[in-house]
Order: sequence, then C-alpha cells, then structure tokens
Amino acid sequence: MQIIRQIDPLRAAVAALRQSGSVALVPTMGAMHEGHLTLVREAAKRAAHVAVSIFVNPRQFGANEDLDAYPRQLERDCVLLDREGVALVWAPDAAAMYPAGYATNIAVSGISDGLCGAARPGHFDGVATVVCKLFNQVRPDTALFGEKDWQQLAVIRRMARDLDLILPAVNAIIGVPTVREADGLALSSRNAYLSADLRARAAALPRAMQRAAARLRDGVPVAVALAGLAQDLLEGGFDSIDYAELVDAETLVPLDALTGNSARLLVAARIGGTRLIDNIPA
Ligand code: PAF
Repeated sequence: MQIIRQIDPLRAAVAALRQSGSVALVPTMGAMHEGHLTLVREAAKRAAHVAVSIFVNPRQFGANEDLDAYPRQLERDCVLLDREGVALVWAPDAAAMYPAGYATNIAVSGISDGLCGAARPGHFDGVATVVCKLFNQVRPDTALFGEKDWQQLAVIRRMARDLDLILPAVNAIIGVPTVREADGLALSSRNAYLSADLRARAAALPRAMQRAAARLRDGVPVAVALAGLAQDLLEGGFDSIDYAELVDAETLVPLDALTGNSARLLVAARIGGTRLIDNIPA
C-alpha cells in the first residue's frame, strides 16, 4: 500500500493503477472505524483498486469546533487499510491541500442551509470544496460515502452534478447504508464520547426514529409523528433535539405528508453534550 502526501506523486500513482483497472475513492478524515472499513469493502467490490483519502479538513470546522482535538491516527489507520487491500492512501497535509494564496470556495446553496447546515454555518462549503478537490486530484471512477451523513451525501451529489465533475455518471457517487450496533445505534466516531450509561440510552435514537417512521406509514400526520419522536427522545435520556424532520431524500425540502417513496427522516439530537445524527427511509 502506498502512502502519498504530495499531489505529483499522487497523480503518477493513480495513473499507474489505472493501467490495470478502475479506481474507487473513499474520502475520509481518518480515525477509521467499522463504518469506514465497510465503505472500503464496498469500494473493493466496485473497482479494481481502492484509494482512501485521509485529510482532516480545516475548512469544514466552525470557529467554535475543536479542529485540534479531532483524532489523528494515520499509522493505525494505514495498518487497518493495508489489511483491507487498499492500494493507495492519499494523506496530504493542509499546505498540500490549500497552498498559500488558496482562495476558492464552493457553496451549494439551498441544500446546505438547513438541518446540520443551520447549526454549522459554512460546514458544507468546506465539505463541498474539499470533496471537489479530492475528485479532481484522484479522478476516481467511483466514490463512496456513508449514508449516515445524508445531507453531506446530498450536497456532494448536487455539487458533482452542478459542476459537471469528471466522474462517469451521477450514480458514480455511491451512498453506503449506515452500519449499526446490535441495538441499532449508528456507528460514529462520536459514540466514543459517551459514557457506558449514555451509550446505552443513545439507542433511544434509532428506536424513536423507527417508531416515528412506522407511525407515518400508518397515516399519523407528520407534525404529530415528529412531536412524538421528540418526546420519545427526551423521555429516553436525550437532552435536546436540534432537528427532527421529514424531507425529500434528494432535495431535502421538508415534507408535510408521506408521498411517494423518497421521504427520509433526519434527526440530530444531543445527549450528555454529544450531538448524534441519524436518518432512515420513512
Ligand atoms: O465524512 C467525512 O469524513 C468528511 O466530511 C469528508 C467527506 C471526508 C470530507 O472531508
């Protein structure tokens, strides 16, 4: 497995891989867990070679978010990725990604503004900008992202379409279903911040979402189902709810009725100071 830190060797290495087949990219910020490794395994099914980027992107952290505290464990990550048969790790430092004088920002308006975007202004600009750069740097045939960050996936798909990015097709951006613990909690690096007690209570989130989705399918009005979801979370040990919305899965426009089969339930809620997000089809 090659570990590459500069753009010129990256281009040479990708060109060499291309001689023997397609390349799938899994963009990450490192600190690998089973969710990331699932993306890597899915990528390996879809392309001859898997490239993983590891870059803690400063542009997607807000002023009040602790960029320095974000876990960095490149050596451990590379051991795990090597075991999965990854061909190449692209691990630029901030100066390689954003050289002096860097001045370009990509803002995907509308779809970035609500939900997590409302609580984290500028976050999705940072994501869209770095992912656009990663696509141009690696030029993969396909790229894989976790569905757990549903809004992120929607923003990236919109950005790739709007900018005619050189991926073979829109469906070259693949969303991989969320990996869950036995009690339904979605895997997330943030779960590590929970005490054993809070971790046990956090399973109220997927439970409450499943209950709300079932109630929506039974014809309960959206506002009533969402209020019930919030109440279930508060009774289950959550401190507050940032948002609980039924939205169109692609545009993220809020829905006031369950129509067609493209509705998605998206929730962000806080427990013991940790903000958890999740989403499921409704
Ligand atoms: O989901 C992440 O880990 C990041 O937001 C991404 C897509 C790698 C961009 O930095």
